[in-house]
Amino acid sequence: MAYNLKNRNFVKVIDFTPKELRFLLDLSESLKTAKYTGTEQPMLSGKNIALMFEKTSTRTRAAFEVAAFDQGAHVTYFDPSGSQMGHKESIADTGRVLGRMYDAIQYRGKRQSDMEILAKFAGVPVYNGLTDEWHPTQMLADFLTMHEDSNKPYNEISYAFVGDLRFNMARSHIVTAALLGSDLRLAGPAHLAPPDDIMAVADAISLKTGASITYTEDPVVAVENVDFIHTDVWVSMGEPKDVWTERINDLRSYQINANLMHASGNNDVKFMHCLPGFHDSNTVVGAEIMSHTDMPDGIEVTDEVFESDASIVFDQAENRLHTIKAIMVATLG
Ligand code: CP
Ligand code: NVA
Repeated sequence: MAYNLKNRNFVKVIDFTPKELRFLLDLSESLKTAKYTGTEQPMLSGKNIALMFEKTSTRTRAAFEVAAFDQGAHVTYFDPSGSQMGHKESIADTGRVLGRMYDAIQYRGKRQSDMEILAKFAGVPVYNGLTDEWHPTQMLADFLTMHEDSNKPYNEISYAFVGDLRFNMARSHIVTAALLGSDLRLAGPAHLAPPDDIMAVADAISLKTGASITYTEDPVVAVENVDFIHTDVWVSMGEPKDVWTERINDLRSYQINANLMHASGNNDVKFMHCLPGFHDSNTVVGAEIMSHTDMPDGIEVTDEVFESDASIVFDQAENRLHTIKAIMVATLG
């Protein structure tokens, strides 16, 4: 089934109905097939897309750029210091300027309220490339990856999300799993538990979709019989560096390691992570964090799990391309 999403924003997952999300996921699959079979048709010729980043990125920027180029569109990349927005010019004024020149705007920033202001003033589709509260484009990639890997319909997928449950990734999973009717088990310590308001929204949606969204402090309970185990970094972009020590102490028993994978009781269980992740000390930040901890094998995930056959993190990363392309084609094509 196709739905008309022309000129729609994609600022949070909850703005879409389950049918609209399924349409975007189906379209992602078709576009992926077209790319691989050399039959892709450019549906965004002549379109100009602004990519505004107030935080750094590899996957999201690459996905928007390659998706746009594949489809015949042009992009302008504004790096975190590359525009007047935020320091010399308000979000509202920036939105009105960019809306006069571009057909759509991707924005990655801190506050969701800024995203909503941009969407209100731009007059063209605005795509959320991540805020502290939501990471909606990542959700399409995560669900497409789980569907492809398990060959299950979205409402039969069972998965766990383990770690800090208050930030963009966990919050987005709670709402998306509810909309798509999935079985999501959240595990994290009580003071990093999912926000009550998000759980209330998810509960209300789940009554209609048949989803099951549950929370436990015990990661072993959460992973029982799941198809996938997800995690995210323990300290997100924009959080102060000095929370690392406290966060590691809070979350060390929530690390994704071979024991936790085994505890699922599913020999085919897969590991997923939006990335970047701290699984070894081959990065400046990773080395610094690990030098201050007694966790030499990885932080939120061990290198053993990250590098194992169970890890599908690079399939997940690639799917950012196909799903972001679907969002642009559906709203602009
Ligand atoms: N997962 C994700 O958003 O990656 P980037 O920060 O590299 O864009
Ligand atoms: N929670 C992470 C997600 C990165 C894609 C962050 O905000 O840094």
